[in-house]
Amino acid sequence: MKVGDVSYRSVWRDGDSVGIIDQTSLPYEFRTLTLRTCEEVAHAIKTMQVRGAPLIGAVAAYGVALALHKDASDNALAAAIDTLADTRPTAVNLRWSLDRMLRQLGSLDPAARVDVAWSEAGRIADEDTELNRSIGDHGLPLIREVAKHRDVVNILTHCNAGWLATVDYGTALAPIYLAHDEGIQVHVWVDETRPRSQGFLTAWELSAHGVPYTLITDNAGGHLTQRGQVDLVIVGADRVTRDGHVCNKIGTYLKALAAKQSAVPFYAAVPSPTIDWSIDDAFSEIPIEERSGDEIRFVQGLDSDGQIARVTIGTDDMQVANPGFDVTPAELITGIITELGVIPATRDGLASIAGK
Ligand code: MRU
Repeated sequence: MKVGDVSYRSVWRDGDSVGIIDQTSLPYEFRTLTLRTCEEVAHAIKTMQVRGAPLIGAVAAYGVALALHKDASDNALAAAIDTLADTRPTAVNLRWSLDRMLRQLGSLDPAARVDVAWSEAGRIADEDTELNRSIGDHGLPLIREVAKHRDVVNILTHCNAGWLATVDYGTALAPIYLAHDEGIQVHVWVDETRPRSQGFLTAWELSAHGVPYTLITDNAGGHLTQRGQVDLVIVGADRVTRDGHVCNKIGTYLKALAAKQSAVPFYAAVPSPTIDWSIDDAFSEIPIEERSGDEIRFVQGLDSDGQIARVTIGTDDMQVANPGFDVTPAELITGIITELGVIPATRDGLASIAGK
């Protein structure tokens, strides 16, 4: 996607290093970073300089290539996989990507590993772009359908499932960009998504593309949905089970409940690497990341000198809990938009795309 006149992806190879967009400085400042080691990649994922399930997976793959660049031995490969796997627990794309790298590299002679690692990481990034483009194609008719009866199609989204969260195009935002590009009047209600405010990233992206949007507090979605001001909800996902339960950013579940109550269609946009075929019980087996309480005690913004700063809004002794994700039960989900088409959020629906 374009930032100003320049086309960017969210991650790219830069010689023997890796370029990323530092998402912790957005929406205030557009800044790129160069990562030179596997440890720097792990740090970038942990601190959410890069974030979003598909992007975490792609960046981790590049992290393996950086590690092997220094030392391509069996031990170094295993250590890199462990370090990267440890960064964030919930988005399954991370494990998916590391498993894929290990499958490609494990049996190779160490001398052959570096080149293969770079090309496999590149392939993962390219494939992600293609998957998201297809998700856009399959999601677009859902918006076109609503547009037959509405002057403006109001879509609610949560967190950031746009191009910043993927290598390009985004998942939930991909159909929205396509709808806007073909002249459909869309307007996006953007949940702020406390505590990390990924909604600001969504607002920044939509604004850069010229898509009309309104940023709202996380608590406003139910009210707007109830009042008929939301036609469609589209969110991303961090892990989807074979029964169609969708784990996504904390707060997604509440939006789905509100949508169900008001008979508003609720879709999750999901590339196949986000499906975890191994989980039996979504509600007990998906590891839900418990993040630092400081994310609740502090907020980041610009100070009066225009510098990015953190201010305290709580006190150190306040007890806080900060689960990062929740699980939306399949019965609240109208459909799952995949790269292969829109499927029901059911075991049969998921089975229809298994292995394709
Ligand atoms: O904690 P984050 O910002 O990595 O969480 C991101 C989300 O929950 C996204 O909605 C999800 O990864 C889908 S991104 C295409």
